[in-house]
Amino acid sequence: MTTPTAAAVSLDGTTVAFRLAGGRTYTAVETAQLSVADGEFVAIVGPTGCGKSTLLNVAAGLLKPAAGSVRIFGQPLAGLNHDAGYLFQADALFPWKTALENVAIGLEVAGSARADAAAKAQQWLASVGLGAFGNRYPHMLSGGQRKRVGLAQVLIRNPRIILMDEPFGPLDAQTRQIMGNLLLDLWSADRKAVLFVTHDLEEAIALADRVVIMSAGPASRIIGDWRVTLPRPRDIFEVRMKHEFHELHREIWQTLKTEVEKTYKQAGAV
Ligand SMILES: Nc1ncnc2c1ncn2[C@@H]1O[C@H](COP(=O)(O)OP(=O)(O)O)[C@@H](O)[C@H]1O
Ligand SMILES: [Mg+2]
Repeated sequence: MTTPTAAAVSLDGTTVAFRLAGGRTYTAVETAQLSVADGEFVAIVGPTGCGKSTLLNVAAGLLKPAAGSVRIFGQPLAGLNHDAGYLFQADALFPWKTALENVAIGLEVAGSARADAAAKAQQWLASVGLGAFGNRYPHMLSGGQRKRVGLAQVLIRNPRIILMDEPFGPLDAQTRQIMGNLLLDLWSADRKAVLFVTHDLEEAIALADRVVIMSAGPASRIIGDWRVTLPRPRDIFEVRMKHEFHELHREIWQTLKTEVEKTYKQAGAV
């Protein structure tokens, strides 16, 4: 049973530690406090290696925290989070299946008849602008097109929560913006809770309702949480020109910059 008013994702004092060789442990994330409301778009930003993917994996039920709790719509998470769809940075398409088959497979695995799954997959391909590309195999698609297939693959399952881990990271700057607008279009039609990880602060502000900042690791903490009040619908090309965008960017960057510098110093890069 889910509680209607409960947050979609709620982390409370969540600490994540990895066991290393020789019996040592590495604390990646320490006592994270984070709540994502139903229908809310939250971006997590932090320097590389700080624990963004780790936190997302905890919300997905792929990693069990060493301490603290994870609740999904009010219920403690045990095992995989079946309310969540997950879009990774790397393509997760089957190379031997066509775009249509890649999108349909989630429904087939869940027990839908093949013809129904194919019909729905065709609709979702059309929604991501690939209605005419269903017969192509992944290697016959551009990076941006493969991301569109990945998005359709997640959305066709109608998850209540969408977890995205630097999904547009490998794309060129223009394609990233086009994908950002597509994501916002699809999201605003049927608002799901979104947890979107990125190292790109501009992308985070342009997309999200809230931007959460993590500190440099180890034992990374959530050190800031800003509300983005830029009006929707947003065009992410245009929103970047707004005064409010620049003010917020400047403010958040004050916090993020210190953490990015710490990370580079640790790595001996500066
Ligand atoms: N399975 C693991 N075993 C040991 N350390 C890990 C493991 N996974 C991640 N880490 C470490 O935890 C930290 C956070 O990793 P990650 O969440 O991938 O960072 P981010 O996504 O912010 O770049 C990094 O220092 C990384 O090396
Ligand atoms: Mg990562």
